[in-house]
Amino acid sequence: MKRAISLIVVAVLASAVMLPNAFCEEKTKQLNGKSLFEEKCLKCHKKPKFKDLTSDRKGWVLTLSRMQRGTCAISDDELEVLADYLADNYGE
Ligand code: HEC
Repeated sequence: MKRAISLIVVAVLASAVMLPNAFCEEKTKQLNGKSLFEEKCLKCHKKPKFKDLTSDRKGWVLTLSRMQRGTCAISDDELEVLADYLADNYGE
């Protein structure tokens, strides 16, 4: 029994040490345009839709802030990264 408890303590301590690292990775991953797009936008939209919706960067910023005001949770930083990604891949 004592052994089981100390195993649990070790496991909890180990995950506490690893957590900050996980957050860092999450952040760098999030600020990648492609994965942001797939993570945030493709939740509600299908990819082919974007092929018909080419726009310049300014247009994408407008769309993104509309999504941002709606139900799509993206930060201002993420909006900028997404605008670059969308303008590069779905630009005019
Ligand atoms: C929670 C669901 C949701 C998410 C997530 C979301 N959208 Fe939307 N989107 C909508 C809805 C609902 C509309 C239609 C209402 C409107 O136009 O404001 C829409 C409309 C649009 C339109 C207009 C296209 C049209 O049909 O005329 C574009 C472009 C768009 N979204 C792009 C994006 C991008 C890029 C992202 C990622 C940052 C995103 N959306 C994330 C729900 C979402």
